[in-house]
Amino acid sequence: MKLRKMWLNINGANRMLICNPEKDTLADVLRRMGLTGTKVGCNKGVCGSCSVILNGKLIRSCTKKIGKIDEYSQVLTIEGIGTPTNLHPIQVAWMQLGAVQCGFCVPGFIVSTYALLLENKKPTREEVRDWFQKHRNVCRCTGYKQIVDAVMAAAEVMRGEKTIEDISFKNPTDGEYYGKPVIRPTALAKVCGLADYGDDQELKMPAESLKVVMVQPKIAHHANIIKIDTSEAEKMPGVVKVITAKDIKAAGGTNIMAEGHFHERTTIMVPSRTVLCEDKIYRYGDVVALVCADTKDHARAAAEKVKVEIEKLPEYLGYLDAVMPDAMRIHKDTPNIFALQPVLKGVGLDEPSKVAEVIDNSAFSVEGSFFATREPHLSIEGDTVQAYFDEDGFLAIQCKSQGVYSSIGRIGNSVGVPKDKIRIIMNPTGASFGWSTNAGDLCLAAAATAVTKMPVALSMTYEEHQHFSGKRRPCHSNGRVACDKNGKITATEFEFGMDQGAYTFGGDDIISKQVRFAFFPYVVPNVAGISRIAITNHNFGTAYRSYGSPQAFTLSEALMDMLAEKAGIDPFEFRWRNIARTGELNINSHPFRLYPMEKMMEMMKPHYDKAVKEAKEKDTPEVRRGVGLAWGGFNVSEGPTDHATVRLELNPDGTITKYDTWQELGQGGDIGSVMVTLEALKPLGITPEQIKLVQSDTKICPDSGMSAGSRSHYMNGHATIIAAEKLINAMKKKDGTFRTYDEMVKEGIATKYEGKYMTIVTPGLSRLDPNTGIGDPTPAFTYALNMAEVAVDTKTGKTTVTRFICVADVGKVGNIDAVNGQAYGGISHSIGFALSENYDDVTKHTNIASSGVPYIKDIPDELHVFYHESDDKTGPFGSSGASEAFQASGHVAVLNAIYNACGVRVFEMPATKEKVKEGLDILAKGGKINPPKKYFLGADLYDELEEIKANPVPYGGIDFFKPLGAAGERFF
Ligand code: FES
Ligand code: FES
Repeated sequence: MKLRKMWLNINGANRMLICNPEKDTLADVLRRMGLTGTKVGCNKGVCGSCSVILNGKLIRSCTKKIGKIDEYSQVLTIEGIGTPTNLHPIQVAWMQLGAVQCGFCVPGFIVSTYALLLENKKPTREEVRDWFQKHRNVCRCTGYKQIVDAVMAAAEVMRGEKTIEDISFKNPTDGEYYGKPVIRPTALAKVCGLADYGDDQELKMPAESLKVVMVQPKIAHHANIIKIDTSEAEKMPGVVKVITAKDIKAAGGTNIMAEGHFHERTTIMVPSRTVLCEDKIYRYGDVVALVCADTKDHARAAAEKVKVEIEKLPEYLGYLDAVMPDAMRIHKDTPNIFALQPVLKGVGLDEPSKVAEVIDNSAFSVEGSFFATREPHLSIEGDTVQAYFDEDGFLAIQCKSQGVYSSIGRIGNSVGVPKDKIRIIMNPTGASFGWSTNAGDLCLAAAATAVTKMPVALSMTYEEHQHFSGKRRPCHSNGRVACDKNGKITATEFEFGMDQGAYTFGGDDIISKQVRFAFFPYVVPNVAGISRIAITNHNFGTAYRSYGSPQAFTLSEALMDMLAEKAGIDPFEFRWRNIARTGELNINSHPFRLYPMEKMMEMMKPHYDKAVKEAKEKDTPEVRRGVGLAWGGFNVSEGPTDHATVRLELNPDGTITKYDTWQELGQGGDIGSVMVTLEALKPLGITPEQIKLVQSDTKICPDSGMSAGSRSHYMNGHATIIAAEKLINAMKKKDGTFRTYDEMVKEGIATKYEGKYMTIVTPGLSRLDPNTGIGDPTPAFTYALNMAEVAVDTKTGKTTVTRFICVADVGKVGNIDAVNGQAYGGISHSIGFALSENYDDVTKHTNIASSGVPYIKDIPDELHVFYHESDDKTGPFGSSGASEAFQASGHVAVLNAIYNACGVRVFEMPATKEKVKEGLDILAKGGKINPPKKYFLGADLYDELEEIKANPVPYGGIDFFKPLGAAGERFF
């Protein structure tokens, strides 16, 4: 290796450094120097998180070779823009305008903004958007609008038109914080580049730590493993150990990730997933070995020397292939379809096929078959895990995790360390949106430490992460819906076929979502439906915001528009006629928890009328305009047995420490926790600055559950109220004033209190009946009515969303910036889901750009969310939960808008420009776009419903969970 000494002027000071001119990028060098504010996400020049200014020009440092940079060049990084005690106005604006969520993109955006404002002191919003588009700055969390707001505000301050004070939130003098845009506590470190994410933690580990690289052969989607030959790899320089499944077993592990049934009809009998594959490869991203070496380069070079001999098996890359009668079993112990959930209502409960009769005899009916894509999460930060034995003998795993406690359950006995000796600590996290609910990556790092007894760091390339991490489950569906001559829905029948991918965990849980959220929040008197899920050889399905409901709305909200058209009724009016009114029942034969639907539609109406009028006015043959609607919503909490625990402690200086596991992934775990604590402790007159959060470390924080299911605000909020009441009561003196810490100690009164909340206190909760789908699993809902306005270029087929409006009800808004962040972010994912995002082709969908992540110009600046704030009496301070509803159905609003613009209905997502263009060409020739033929999803719908009726299974109760294999207890 030939190295070079060189000088660079970095942030104003000349600094000497040693580099490898052939290999190092500028980002590598900066990060080695400790300037870890420069983040590396894609490492391919497509995300902008590594942006720095080199000799006055904005560049992406991950692709800039150091050997091409002149000595004494000037480099400006985030660390040179401002510090916590001397913030630049851009950094202040980012914090104050809600532009910080996970923060991984933030240093790159701030540096990029600095460069923009050097060139253009008074940019317009569109110029700002053009700049970020040109420089490829991607944010996956915010939906971009707040970022443009922040640039505009910072520019005003820099021009002297406003002061920092003018753009800053001030603590209210009346102590009324709830709902206000209090700044998230993690924002300061993030805007200064001082938040140490996973790769930053790795750089700061002791030098003797081992670097771990996965052997991910990527040679087949389905194959028997004949032999794994590690002999050559073991001889490579720097290699300490090549670990295969045998080594994990020799260390006392089972090599099997814990698994359990969530449903009475699941047929999986043994856990489906190993830590390292031993006998079989089930999907492209499977891992067969780990190489532990002194450096990452050594580990990577050795990993390439591991030889894997295989015998290819038939590959079933989607649901339709895996459920064909001649398909082989992918997991030998069970048929490929491994779980199903029916739903019946009205005449369907007497006799399922009577629903078909109602449809046949109704005035109008429509049918359609639909496909929702395998959507990748595309967080800008990939996957990186550190593991080590801590000073108390715990196997500590630092990682990205949406459920630090549930991860311990999933690791189970797989690596040979008892569960009570595993400690999960969440790193500052560059978002996840669901993929980090799975602990496969944690198992890998844990196995490496368990086998080598050494601290290890596992950092995947973005491509490795893409192939390794789970995705949103794709879904095929068939459905019919009918209405009477007045446009009132009479009946629906539907069937869903979910592609679970290679590993089954959680698949029997998600099937409840389609049979709850299809046709939400309408009244449908007669229903016959089923949701099935099958194993395939593609990536496994995992959590993603709005978990399982987008697949349902893909069918139902398209059918709503199709039926409205058939009945000759405006789609808004058609929805108005069919939304549930007080007391009316959902498809699970239970009342909705709240009925804000009418009021929400009234709020949307003027926007809809204006949009339709404008679309007509602006419509041209070259650019067709259209407006699309879609109702959506989601549940709050994980169900009848959900629970959360938090602790509050009074400190000597009168401040409060809050302990919880409200996992902060950028979606508001920090500020959410602060908001509920402020409100719960209002009698004490606490300010945000007086709350110290200790979060997401299983050794010191109580279990507040997963950050999923829009549950955190609801569950943690309630638990905080309970803990706060205990603390306040303990502090209260007879005269109504409060004891100080010293007085408490002197009187022997405890200063730390725990609050535990369980959803079971809500009357009437029940899991869905596995034979009928009747049930009411969750105590609250969130609601979202979406409207997309699109322009379709008829020459290219490209769709641009020009405005997006959402009317939402999440109960009382706890922090407007945080909820807006969820809303805009969710909507931006929905737009990407509709138009571009995909992880289907494993050779192409390897990074965020090729997988279709929306850049800023793909998301409209006109993104508006209006809140109808129901006072949810079951929720903490009237709130329900914010997040999932915002990504439930926005994609169908876009797809409906495309149809209304140009007559092309896209049944199979995503609506790429090629697909829309193909439709336009057919229409131009006077042809008709043929919808997909009804899919074969495993059985005839009514035959299967009859079969279920004839063979009911016993209801497993509200607490149903059956551990499998070595996991002998409930762990989730
Ligand atoms: S552009 Fe450099 S890390 Fe993505
Ligand atoms: S805040 Fe931009 S990627 Fe998370």
